[in-house]
Amino acid sequence: MTLIAQLHQDHINLSRLLEVMELKVQKLKAGDSPNFLLLSELVDYIGNYADQYHHPREDHMYHYFCGRDATLDAHLQKCEAEHTDLKQASKVVNETVDAVMHDAVIPMSDFIGQLEAFVLREREHLDYEETVIFPGIEQVANDADWAALEQKLPEPEDPLFGEKQGENYRELYKALLQDVIAAP
Ligand SMILES: [Fe+2]
Ligand SMILES: [Fe+2]
Repeated sequence: MTLIAQLHQDHINLSRLLEVMELKVQKLKAGDSPNFLLLSELVDYIGNYADQYHHPREDHMYHYFCGRDATLDAHLQKCEAEHTDLKQASKVVNETVDAVMHDAVIPMSDFIGQLEAFVLREREHLDYEETVIFPGIEQVANDADWAALEQKLPEPEDPLFGEKQGENYRELYKALLQDVIAAP
């Protein structure tokens, strides 16, 4: 599988989690109390996976294709800047969820607003990559490029990260689905 195909698969997995997170936000809005531990794990997973694994691989690909096309270059730069912003955004949401779990007094409307904004930003970023960035790269890329990119992919600090995250993803997704189905 080419790097771009792997990244596309990551997007599908992340989209599923964002969908579940949207359902949780809807429940909060309806006045239900969610499973905060699961919510915290969800926010943590999305941020962790994106910042430690997914975005470094994308940045590697964006650097590689820089200089092929001026319009694409501008998009690649914008996208990389979004990675930095998203890292900060996920940190802030994580801290808020932690604070709520530790009984900090945060107005529910603020909490819901932060979660909603986070989901929206992540979604917009994925859509931007899927509709503009990836098609733009595919137009300028050839088979030799994909082979060259595979040669030196950034490795996560933990060599088992990808494997562990795959397992964590399946477990988390299952728990989330059960939670959504079980909730009234
Ligand atoms: Fe990205
Ligand atoms: Fe992405």
